[in-house]
Amino acid sequence: MARTPRHDTPAGAAAAATGELGSADMPAEMLREQIAGCLLAARERTQLLTGCVDEGDLVRQHSPLMSPLVWDLAHIANQEELWLLRAVGGREPIHPEIDPLYDAFEHPRAERPTLPLLRASEARHYAGEVRGRVLDLLGAATFSGARLVTGGFAFGMVAQHEQQHDETMLITHQLRRGAPVLSAPEPPPAPADAPGLPAEVLVPAGPFTMGTSSEPWALDNERPAHTVHVPAFYLDTTPVTNGAYLQFIADGGYDDPRWWSAAGWEHRQRAGLSAPLYWRRDGGGWVRTRFGVTEPVAAAEPVLHVCWYEARAYAAWAGRRLPTEAEWEKAARFDPGTGRSRRYPWGDAAPAAELANLGQRYLRPAPAGSYPGGAAPCGARQLIGDVWEWTASDFLPYPGFRAWPYREYSEVFFGTEYKVLRGGSFAVGPVACRGTFRNWDYPVRRQIFAGFRTARDATAAAAGNGRV
Ligand SMILES: [Fe+2]
Repeated sequence: MARTPRHDTPAGAAAAATGELGSADMPAEMLREQIAGCLLAARERTQLLTGCVDEGDLVRQHSPLMSPLVWDLAHIANQEELWLLRAVGGREPIHPEIDPLYDAFEHPRAERPTLPLLRASEARHYAGEVRGRVLDLLGAATFSGARLVTGGFAFGMVAQHEQQHDETMLITHQLRRGAPVLSAPEPPPAPADAPGLPAEVLVPAGPFTMGTSSEPWALDNERPAHTVHVPAFYLDTTPVTNGAYLQFIADGGYDDPRWWSAAGWEHRQRAGLSAPLYWRRDGGGWVRTRFGVTEPVAAAEPVLHVCWYEARAYAAWAGRRLPTEAEWEKAARFDPGTGRSRRYPWGDAAPAAELANLGQRYLRPAPAGSYPGGAAPCGARQLIGDVWEWTASDFLPYPGFRAWPYREYSEVFFGTEYKVLRGGSFAVGPVACRGTFRNWDYPVRRQIFAGFRTARDATAAAAGNGRV
């Protein structure tokens, strides 16, 4: 996201696996343990991402699109102090003089390296001090009374915020030049049935419940639950792969204005786009660089680092289109057996390692067709995790939207400037990812971990070149 709170103002695997995240009905002791687990998981990742580089790398700005890592670190702590120690706990500020430095709305990212930021050791000390006091506060919390603490919301919001910055910091790592400092195992190969999967799945026409009024840690833009009628449509079973995207490139897709919107073609010309970000030609093939390692482009992996304009052009070339946000959510959540919307494609249980590729476990998307256990009732796979998926939709409020707990979380971003992304990427923590979660960014952004899948109306025959 360009300037969203989730990255700017604003992978708890162990905690997430324990069940529903946040619940107004959960006994306080259980909720306390769950929150502590989510906070710890986020902090472990933060420490890894900021501990694997030297001081010079921490304070350097690796791209004008991103903050120095040391800014993210102190900003995480500052937001935790603001929301938990001050707003919930009523405590006095620890270092009120630094608040303006870490207010994302006061200083755009490009400006942050020029600020008198805390040094790395000071930022670490501050983050540790805040966390220690937060755990004391958590130990005495009752999770009832004020809306901010009901169901542990403020704690959940802070855990999500840190996980979102962990994703932001991983994006910074991808932009960083130099020797590799991050490593992870390769995800397991796709299951044997992956090659035989149908290319698309049918989502029948009918109403479904979009958004939520009951998810305890849902953010304001996911609320309230409302009924949306969605005509029948077909959706790709998996995200579009590198192999399919290579066909688009080989077919001259980047050079044919027929497939591009007017704004997209103008951007493609001005920015000189010819392949996903981090790709380059190598002899007769393509290689990509990921976290400092250059390797052949893996054909079975979902395509990554394409902007909305590229996703839209690919879909047009394939005789298809991007799904709307409502279509995406219906495919991901609607259970025709019960008529209700699930929390996740696989059901209501929180994400577990065998259901989705989340939490920076592998540092890359899994091959298309992976995670059969995480499939939605319609049969689509990998809707949660792997890659953020661009949708056709602008970022707009749901009917009955109310800004909470502050306007700058979502409301100031509503409009046609941003496109919605859904589903979360391999870099997202489980606590910051669910069927209702909405991400948004500018249609030109490519540094984010975004791919896409395509759709078509069920009533219209596929047109275009019929290749996909
Ligand atoms: Fe933030």
